[in-house]
Amino acid sequence: MSGPTPEDASSSNPPVRRLADWDADRLAALADRYETPLYVIDRDRVRENCARLRDAFPDADVRYAVKAHTGQSVLRTVERAGLAAECASAGELERALAAGFSGDRLHYTAVNPPARDLDHVVDRWREHPEITITAGAVDTLDRLADRGFDGRVCIRVTPGVDAGHHEKVRTGAHAKFGVPYDRAANVVREATDRFDVVGIHAHAGSGIDADGLDRHRELVSRMGALAAALVDPAAGDREDADADPITLEYVDVGGGFGVPYRDDEPPLDLPAVADATREAFETALEDADVDRDAGLDLAVEPGRYVVADAGVLLTRVNTVKPAPETTVVGVDAGMTDLLRLAMYDAFHPIRNVSSASHSGENRGDVIDDRGDRDPIPVTVTGPICETADVFCEDRPLPAPERGDVLAIGIAGAYGYEMASQYNSRPRPAEVAVGVGGDTTTGTDESPDAADPGPTLVRDRETIADVTAVERRAGYEGFAALEDPVRPAGDVSSTEDAE
Ligand code: LLP
Repeated sequence: MSGPTPEDASSSNPPVRRLADWDADRLAALADRYETPLYVIDRDRVRENCARLRDAFPDADVRYAVKAHTGQSVLRTVERAGLAAECASAGELERALAAGFSGDRLHYTAVNPPARDLDHVVDRWREHPEITITAGAVDTLDRLADRGFDGRVCIRVTPGVDAGHHEKVRTGAHAKFGVPYDRAANVVREATDRFDVVGIHAHAGSGIDADGLDRHRELVSRMGALAAALVDPAAGDREDADADPITLEYVDVGGGFGVPYRDDEPPLDLPAVADATREAFETALEDADVDRDAGLDLAVEPGRYVVADAGVLLTRVNTVKPAPETTVVGVDAGMTDLLRLAMYDAFHPIRNVSSASHSGENRGDVIDDRGDRDPIPVTVTGPICETADVFCEDRPLPAPERGDVLAIGIAGAYGYEMASQYNSRPRPAEVAVGVGGDTTTGTDESPDAADPGPTLVRDRETIADVTAVERRAGYEGFAALEDPVRPAGDVSSTEDAE
């Protein structure tokens, strides 16, 4: 399962790791050892993804959007790979600091930030004055100034162009996220009185595929034009030609690079995306008669691209129910563990990895690990009392049996992160494989540490964890029950006995 080391990354760092590329025996063994539901995250693959991003964008600042996967195993690996971090909350900032990101590589993007977040981030900024805060509203700037903040600021803009795999993740045309494009130049200029304004920012949306690239280019070109107007208002022929020029360090054009979830979907041509991004930016500056060497750098903020194909969710079959219209396969993971399917109708590949004899044969859509079972159309469902709690409908899988382990692929991004305790279900455990930043003693280019083997990086929650906030509140409800739950840490399961 471990990928290649960075030395041979250029020759064998494929643009996507498909679910079929994972070692089925090893996944089944992890499920046995750590129980299910279980996330597996491969730090080697995270490193490979970082390396491809850095190769494609050698001159840009690549900032990992921490929200895609906030685990220390990933953050340390990303930090070691030399990327910066884009944090959406005080909690994410805390996690990035814990992983070792220095202030100059930390960006906090404040979207209608709660007071508690701002208090926390400004406190941290006092210790790490190189932190940059990206604000999408003048109110946010006022609230920062009220707290005595006068540090590095980036203004988030609504460019009026969006893209992404689902309407719920398209941001670039939604007024929620940035200041309106037409007012952005004024907001930036006024902000320079109170802050060190270092950049402008926009994000089109998440999961942009080849079809969405024109929109990405359009966003970059609008942001290039805005930057040109700010850094050199006198160039070209503009209304605000007499405004003071502003020195900006960068133009952040957001994240959103998609990954293929379906086996027949081609991966993004990342070098081509990077070329198109650069070209759109440079053309916008040229069109505005602004020198490309005006000192403006590009920045990108990929989240999904760094972790999606580095993670799988393992789940065990507990029910096989033939019904007239389909065969229902009940598993122990649900929408509480992986919400993307219920929320966005997303597709995730599924594979049955249980067997003594894995042929790993790929018969079109069906990876037949057992080699001895014919595929049947199945509907894989979780334990949550919602019709949306379905991982696939009528998809051909080698006939699952009770006790089999299914692997749900491309689950490393927005998987564990969106997990909840709905139906009072404890969140799953996570195990890391591969060589991570924390276990590497060499440089990122030549790590010399051996693979430490699987490491439990997020403990399985227990029912005691689920009820902890109520018990901590001291409200009398739980007082009536002496010891309602198994003690935390006792992960032994009755499933094993079945
Ligand atoms: N920058 C900003 C300001 C963002 O809001 C996001 C994602 C990113 C960067 C990273 O986008 P990425 O490269 O990961 O596409 N839960 C959804 C995705 C929501 C993304 C929200 N913002 C999903 O599972 O598809």
